[in-house]
Amino acid sequence: MAIRPRIQLLSTGGTISGFGRTATETAYEYGQIDACDLVATVDGLNHIADVQAETLFEVGSENLGPVQWFKLANRIEELTASDEVDGVVVTHGTDTLEEAAFFLDLVCRPKKPVALTAAMRPATALSADGPANLYQAVLAISTLKLQGPEIFVVMNGQVIPGWQVIKTDSVALSSFCAYPGGAVGQIVNSNLLANGGPGSSPIAGQFHDVLRKGLELPNVDIISLRGGCGNRPILSWDGTDCKGLVIAGFGAGTMPDSLATKLAEISQSGCVVVVSSRLSRVIVLSDTMSPGESDEIIPSGFLNPQKSALLLCLALAVGLNGSDIAKLFSNFSSNL
Ligand code: SIN
Repeated sequence: MAIRPRIQLLSTGGTISGFGRTATETAYEYGQIDACDLVATVDGLNHIADVQAETLFEVGSENLGPVQWFKLANRIEELTASDEVDGVVVTHGTDTLEEAAFFLDLVCRPKKPVALTAAMRPATALSADGPANLYQAVLAISTLKLQGPEIFVVMNGQVIPGWQVIKTDSVALSSFCAYPGGAVGQIVNSNLLANGGPGSSPIAGQFHDVLRKGLELPNVDIISLRGGCGNRPILSWDGTDCKGLVIAGFGAGTMPDSLATKLAEISQSGCVVVVSSRLSRVIVLSDTMSPGESDEIIPSGFLNPQKSALLLCLALAVGLNGSDIAKLFSNFSSNL
């Protein structure tokens, strides 16, 4: 057999390692399938790569947070710096895959390609998608076409720049897409059709110090608006320990006038506010959002509320001020 790329699999839990009671149920228990079992379920995987498996966590991704993200990011840095490894695949739950992929893009400087993958159906389901997704993730980073040291998400035949991945559906098999760009590759059978687009965000690796120094991530809240809410969501918000706030506003960042007024007061008291939108394909610019832009009220560009909150956390963790944070976010509204 020809020399195969050496791929390290890091398993963190999620539906891809879930085990249901019947083949038609989507309910399942975590941790029933460990990393080695996952690899063993995928026919033909050992023809394309030499895959070594390691279990990092066995939980639903709703239970992952900064502690686990740091551990995962540090392990990726370690593995991709090693001469023994050609790439890393991470299996993850779908529910917070967006945050994990964006976090890794912002804090890691991997030396080899990294692909995150997941599944919408447990391993026991009639239509389990995990084995194919895992096969495709390994394939994607094993071919010479995607050898850049970048973070990708591979789901349902699509290779998506990690920072651009968004989850659009609660249960459909086709639940992920790239936004605001597009997939950088598609997988058909065992072929990767790559279009050569960049996989990294415009500020990839810029928060490496957060990882290196193990900086604490401050609290940032998200307030989501509903039609008719007036300024209630802000009045009932207890932001005493929050240094940052993200508003998931309407459309391109609009909100009730009374709420915009209150927000201006909050921003003047030292809390940095980012305005995003509750829609899935977000565009919020300074001239589309309700409150006027200031150093402390910042439009999110293409970033949805959860990605905005993550970037704001990292920016506050390294001590950036309002105008530096505004410049940071402007990377996500132009020249992508
Ligand atoms: C999770 O995010 O861990 C649960 C849902 C899933 O993986 O699809």
